[in-house]
Amino acid sequence: MTAPEVRPLPADSVGLLEGLTTTRAIRRYTGDLMPPEVLRDILFAATRAASGSNRQPFRFIVLIDGPRAVAARRLLGERAREIWAGKGQREGYRSDAEPRSAKARMARTMAEYVGGFESVPVVVLTCLVRYREPAPMEGASVYPACQNLLLAARALGYGGVMTGFHRGIEPQLSELLSVPAEAFIAATITLGRPQGGHGPVRRRPLAELVFEDTWGSAPEWALDPPGTAYTAAGPPARPSATAG
Ligand SMILES: Cc1cc2nc3c(=O)[nH]c(=O)nc-3n(C[C@H](O)[C@H](O)[C@H](O)COP(=O)(O)O)c2cc1C
Repeated sequence: MTAPEVRPLPADSVGLLEGLTTTRAIRRYTGDLMPPEVLRDILFAATRAASGSNRQPFRFIVLIDGPRAVAARRLLGERAREIWAGKGQREGYRSDAEPRSAKARMARTMAEYVGGFESVPVVVLTCLVRYREPAPMEGASVYPACQNLLLAARALGYGGVMTGFHRGIEPQLSELLSVPAEAFIAATITLGRPQGGHGPVRRRPLAELVFEDTWGSAPEWALDPPGTAYTAAGPPARPSATAG
């Protein structure tokens, strides 16, 4: 019997820095399925992430359409709607407020996202296998893998978002999916083909986030590249930051 031919990783057309600065939370997907070979590529990239002592304590449970996947997705969908209802209320996300405001847009996106959670193309639960008592840095051995996963999706024309929708239902999910006692679910990630483009992420200006020598002291070189987009939380783009 000959071994099946295994495909190499495909070439991608997004440069690393471009990918890093344009990987946004994608919550709206087309109905396209994700072929197994694409999942292979994305999960391969995810599992290449760094972890403490290279222990590789991350594990990924991919939920597509098997009976347990469907049941888990239903639990997650119900929880997502509950969590969003609470947060939306607490933080004033109302789709009928000022319709073009960032909050109203987010409210509409989130309502659609959590409302159709069960039909997102793929859900990935990222887990961490504990080898010692919970420690402050343990997440550092699982979240780089989550980011690799999202970056690889971006590289291949897909997109996703990391969520905490498993919070509060870990026992039910663990039982349903046979997650062993020494492992915990660290993230719920949805993936699919984005409806619409990626575009640059919006963040605070570099100088608000990077210090030299002492806290609060921005280095002279902390100048955002031309065209940087800012969050509403940050100041509007300064002419010096966008010129050229
Ligand atoms: C630790 C973490 C938890 C997150 N939890 C959620 C979540 O529960 N639900 C959700 O829709 N997005 C979640 N996100 C996505 C963020 O809201 C999103 O990345 C952020 O608002 C920036 O948006 P952008 O990536 O589109 O620029 C989470 C992201 C991180 C890193």
